[in-house]
Amino acid sequence: MSTNTRFNLTGRTAIVTGASKGIGKAIAQALGLHGAQVVISSRNQETLDQVKVEFDAQGITCCAIAAEIGQSASMSDLVEKTRAIYGPIHILVNNAAANPAFGPITNADDAMFDKIMDVNVRGPLNLAKLCYPDMKAAGWGSVINISSIGGISPGDMLGLYSVSKAALISLTKVLAKEWGSKGIRANAICPGLIKTKFSEALWKSDPIMQQFMAKQALPRIGESDDVSGMALLLASDAGAYCTGGVYTVDGGFTI
Ligand SMILES: NC(=O)c1ccc[n+]([C@@H]2O[C@H](COP(=O)([O-])OP(=O)(O)OC[C@H]3O[C@@H](n4cnc5c(N)ncnc54)[C@H](OP(=O)(O)O)[C@@H]3O)[C@@H](O)[C@H]2O)c1
Repeated sequence: MSTNTRFNLTGRTAIVTGASKGIGKAIAQALGLHGAQVVISSRNQETLDQVKVEFDAQGITCCAIAAEIGQSASMSDLVEKTRAIYGPIHILVNNAAANPAFGPITNADDAMFDKIMDVNVRGPLNLAKLCYPDMKAAGWGSVINISSIGGISPGDMLGLYSVSKAALISLTKVLAKEWGSKGIRANAICPGLIKTKFSEALWKSDPIMQQFMAKQALPRIGESDDVSGMALLLASDAGAYCTGGVYTVDGGFTI
């Protein structure tokens, strides 16, 4: 089979959470340009509708469905609406995340803990469980969890976020083990510093950027498109033997 065929996602339906901007938008675009029917989701319908207009112009088959990750009814609604429009779901990209706590973990309270675990861990698990019957019936599925290099080694002042991203890596491995026999793969991508709204507090700080650049093998900050190629590989048959993997996309920061 040619390499092009193995990256082809024609006939596959994908949900990408947090797809209105940043890394999620870049991943949704890459999957769509390779033939997948893509559901782009985030909390704000208006922003999603604007992204849909952009994607339509690029020939991407997509649909914009607002949902709040972490809220059970909203996630069920997202999956039901996707099925009604496109049929069974084959690819789930758990990309949306929250980070309400920046600072020492001693300052993190229960409300912060609950919020971050709801969005970053419980949400991805529950969405994966909602998609599981379709993937199992097809004998083919790919769950891609967007973790972070903070999930491998905790980032400074990002303690609780790092805990949640480590849990997401562990969840990925559990899904890979439990669902592998059904033809369902699960992998985690761990981006380094990528220039998005989410990481603004980091890349707008000169002292943080100086520390960061001192550790980078590739001397630049990442762009959202730097992450989408890895997601495409893991979503497609090009990554057919990859499961339970934890893949850094960090310009060599963690070497
Ligand atoms: N940027 C980095 O340096 C970096 C590094 C490592 C890992 N990551 C990870 O990469 C992923 C994407 O981050 P990003 O940098 O691309 O962020 P971003 O540009 O801020 O985009 C975040 C997306 O998630 C949506 N979102 C946020 N909370 C949500 C919720 N509760 N329910 C549904 N949608 C929600 C946002 O839209 P609405 O606000 O409209 O809902 C937006 O579409 C995250 O998992 C993050 O942890 C990022």
